[in-house]
Amino acid sequence: MLGARPSHSSAALLSAVVLLHVQAAAAVSFQVLVPADPLSAPLGGTVLLPCHLSPPLSAQAMQVKWSRPQLGQDVHVYLPDGSEVQAERYQGRTELLRDRIQSGTLALRIRNLTLQDEGRYLCDFQSNSIVGNATLELRVTSSGLDPLLHIGGYDGKQMNVTCLSVGWYPKLKMLWRNGHGERLTLSKEEKISRNWGLFDVSSSVVVTKHSDPTLICAIRPGSPSPEKVSVILISDDFFPQVSSWKVGLFLFLSVCVCLLFFPACYLWRVQRAKRKSSNLTTKT
Ligand SMILES: *[C@@H]1O[C@H](CO)[C@@H](O)[C@H](O)[C@H]1NC(C)=O
Ligand SMILES: *[C@@H]1O[C@H](CO)[C@@H](O)[C@H](O)[C@H]1NC(C)=O
Ligand SMILES: *[C@@H]1O[C@H](CO)[C@@H](O)[C@H](O)[C@H]1NC(C)=O
Repeated sequence: MLGARPSHSSAALLSAVVLLHVQAAAAVSFQVLVPADPLSAPLGGTVLLPCHLSPPLSAQAMQVKWSRPQLGQDVHVYLPDGSEVQAERYQGRTELLRDRIQSGTLALRIRNLTLQDEGRYLCDFQSNSIVGNATLELRVTSSGLDPLLHIGGYDGKQMNVTCLSVGWYPKLKMLWRNGHGERLTLSKEEKISRNWGLFDVSSSVVVTKHSDPTLICAIRPGSPSPEKVSVILISDDFFPQVSSWKVGLFLFLSVCVCLLFFPACYLWRVQRAKRKSSNLTTKT
């Protein structure tokens, strides 16, 4: 009897350890995986938000919910009986890809993206044995029109070149460079306005005859997409150069005038002196 007691308690201890171990396995070893980096998709386009259990485990009998925690909105929910619930504002736009649900993958596809779709999305798996969630970030982008260049305020000495581009999201940067790649200073601060949530931007530089004739207006998007550029070459005809032979002719003529002026003065003085002396002689 005495010898049996320790063996009895050690069996209890062993089962407790096994139980703890199983719970730890359930809590720790299943993870919900989503892309760590933000996903970008174009306005009006389609995006696929991936989400899966790791290691793979069938999610067929689980509840899987895609929601937007920042807004307190459910987007699309898969229920253990295989039915789905779609939020009204996403009606006709979201779809759960169920073909790989047996391996714990339940991606959400969103079509006709709007700017309001931008933000964080939570993918949440729930069953009696496992609970897990993860969030990913969706960014919506809009690539605007090529920049348009416009010449205005020309007065013979300078002109005002304006660059305009519309329909961007997120906020962009507009840069001016000359033909040597040097940044140009704006004549005024750039103007940014919002139109249906999209950014329109314009800015101007002043060009004189001393400026580089090549002007480059570049749009640097706020999303990882390529720069858009427009170039204008200002013709010399806007700022007529006084050519060197004209300067030479002008100097030559000036010298001639001077050279003629002094002899003329001298002759005039001589004439006057003569006339005075003849007046004097006639009086006497
Ligand atoms: C999505 O856009 C397409 C064309 O771009 C349109 O035919 C369709 O009706 C739109 N769907 C929804 C749900 O807005
Ligand atoms: C997501 O999971 C964490 C634990 O991993 C939990 O604290 C949190 O409440 C869960 N969030 C939601 C919205 O279910
Ligand atoms: C240049 O043109 C823009 C747009 O037309 C205008 O806002 C700006 O005042 C002008 N600047 C100068 C120096 O004329």
